[in-house]
Amino acid sequence: MSIPFLLAPMAELSHRALRELIEGFGGCDAYFSEMISAGALLSGGPFESWYIDGGPRSEKLVYQLLGADSRQIVKAGALLDRLECAGIDINLGCSAPMIRKTGAGVAWMASIDRAGELIARVRRAVRRRLSVKLRIGFQDDFEYLAGFCRRLEAEGTELIILHPRTAGEKFRRSARWDYVGELRRELGIPVAGNGDIASAADLCRRAAGPCDAVMAGRAAVRQPWLFAQARLLETQGREHPPCENFHINLAETGLNFLELLARHQPPEFHLSRARRFFSFFCDNLKWGNYLKTLLNRGENLAGIERIWRDYFAEHGEEALLTV
Ligand SMILES: Cc1cc2nc3c(=O)[nH]c(=O)nc-3n(C[C@H](O)[C@H](O)[C@H](O)COP(=O)(O)O)c2cc1C
Repeated sequence: MSIPFLLAPMAELSHRALRELIEGFGGCDAYFSEMISAGALLSGGPFESWYIDGGPRSEKLVYQLLGADSRQIVKAGALLDRLECAGIDINLGCSAPMIRKTGAGVAWMASIDRAGELIARVRRAVRRRLSVKLRIGFQDDFEYLAGFCRRLEAEGTELIILHPRTAGEKFRRSARWDYVGELRRELGIPVAGNGDIASAADLCRRAAGPCDAVMAGRAAVRQPWLFAQARLLETQGREHPPCENFHINLAETGLNFLELLARHQPPEFHLSRARRFFSFFCDNLKWGNYLKTLLNRGENLAGIERIWRDYFAEHGEEALLTV
């Protein structure tokens, strides 16, 4: 049995356009939404309908909620629970200083009791699968993490997704994947691991280790075919030596993304979402850093498309990638 592959929640990235792009290559087992602010959702902000657009496979979508106020999180959870989706995830891991300062994200990890009470209340309001995505905590203290997660389990959490870095650690320090296996031994519920998956081979390697699901973020933006390629590698590894290659038309994939963005995101989001996506996707190209600078100067989607097309008019040899 293959273990599930999950798309990570990523602000300004894990929206419908990216999900459709990934789905077009074969998809993954569950898509986590970008974090949705509980307060903004309840106050009916102008963009909330875009944040909760569950397409193209709402049955595979997990809504991720962020907030500092437990009443708001519970109410927003109950609201999302009424939509078609695969689950509700509570963000106890975001360590961006702006978020932490408000008491949201990883700030919840400072108190086992407060977090436990939050999850107990959400549990009573939500009938979908309830998961929590978190980090190790404020210190590199596995015992604290294990105690924290045991309490979340006791309060009804059904899945823990561990990004094994502390609150203060940036991407430069490697994720401590051994904690994923260790945490799994401590708990009776599934534990998914997340962090530093760079390729389909990495995804397969982590999936073969002690964890119940593997979540990938940045690599799935760079390579929207990542999950499909990993499934192929898994099958080939079992049945015969790897032989088949993936042929990707990078030029077309970029254009396809722009089209999806225009279709599924409001105009106010187009530039920021396009820039975020291409800041990763351009890593597939030899002159990608230069192209990122040019794309950042694009004033609208049409301008970005022109710059993208011009690049391949000059570097046609880069349009096709074989992986
Ligand atoms: C641009 C960006 C936005 C992110 N936004 C969120 C978020 O909304 N919620 C969340 O739980 N984690 C968020 N994360 C963290 C990712 O979900 C993930 O834990 C992290 O990127 C490590 O996984 P990776 O190495 O596969 O990218 C974000 C990461 C990035 C790079």
